[in-house]
Amino acid sequence: MWAKHEGENPTGSFKDRGMTVGTSMAIFFNAKTVVCASTGNTAASMAAYAALGGLKAVVFIPKGEIALGKLSQSLAYGAKTIQINGNFDDAMRIVKELAPKLGFYPLNSLNPFRLEGQKTIVFELLQQRGWQAPDWIVVPGGNLGNTAAFGKALAELKESKLIHRVPRVAVIQAAGSNPFYQSYLTDFKEKITVLAPETLATAIRIGSPINYAKAVKTIQFTKGVVEQVGETEIMDAKAVVDGCGIGCEPASACTVAGIRKLVKKGVIKKDESVVGILTGNLLKDPQATLDYHSKGIPAPSKYANKPLIIAPTISKIRQALK
Ligand SMILES: Cc1ncc(COP(=O)(O)O)c(C=O)c1O
Repeated sequence: MWAKHEGENPTGSFKDRGMTVGTSMAIFFNAKTVVCASTGNTAASMAAYAALGGLKAVVFIPKGEIALGKLSQSLAYGAKTIQINGNFDDAMRIVKELAPKLGFYPLNSLNPFRLEGQKTIVFELLQQRGWQAPDWIVVPGGNLGNTAAFGKALAELKESKLIHRVPRVAVIQAAGSNPFYQSYLTDFKEKITVLAPETLATAIRIGSPINYAKAVKTIQFTKGVVEQVGETEIMDAKAVVDGCGIGCEPASACTVAGIRKLVKKGVIKKDESVVGILTGNLLKDPQATLDYHSKGIPAPSKYANKPLIIAPTISKIRQALK
């Protein structure tokens, strides 16, 4: 198993892959202002690339529902940051309605150039493996932009004969925010919406994924699967990734929790090769990490590393370190 860490991109998430292309196209189209709805990382990335490209940026985020690192990035990079009393899906609806009226260029993953950029995750991982395709690529699913982009990238690579075998794509959702998983269970006969999505993995707290149709194609083309994982599974998996000295944000840990579950179920065989995508950096959501280690959130933490509070005497400290 390999982990490809997209949290090592300039703003700490995979969003930079698509945002560098998206903002370049905004400039090409003579746009002055770019806009997005975001669970945090899209906003952070768009704000940075807009600043670098001399564009104005407006972001809509659900109030109180995005991780601190991401909110502070949007503000720091200078985006007009609008918190709405609603969830991501409400913010997305507003952007879709507002963007054409105000002449703002939308940079959510409904923008095809964003997805073109995100295809490079797959191109690069295959290049890094000497163009030897793994059996599986595993990725968390929220708005399903990566899922859509990965399918397109793999189809193009197969067509150009750079790979001879298509890896299966496994998409992992949080159980409290699982519309794609529910649709998968109906064999995609029905597009299901989750009205009040809930998960500590705030990046994927999305009830009505915008790239649903393209993502269905990916699952069908790659003979992929969709799985769901619970909050404890997510945060325990995150603690393991963190404890390796690598670290990731909660949504990314879905990848690892999902791999573990799929291996247990026998869907991923023990001799198969897997590349798991870690989508965002550990520092994006410090609160989730602190809550896990010091408060046992969401459940008594299996890998808790509680901070110690000790009087400043050598004997007390010796005692604590025993
Ligand atoms: C860290 C992280 N992981 C996963 C996702 C979900 O990606 P997608 O919308 O492409 O499914 C997001 C989206 O915001 C994210 O920020």
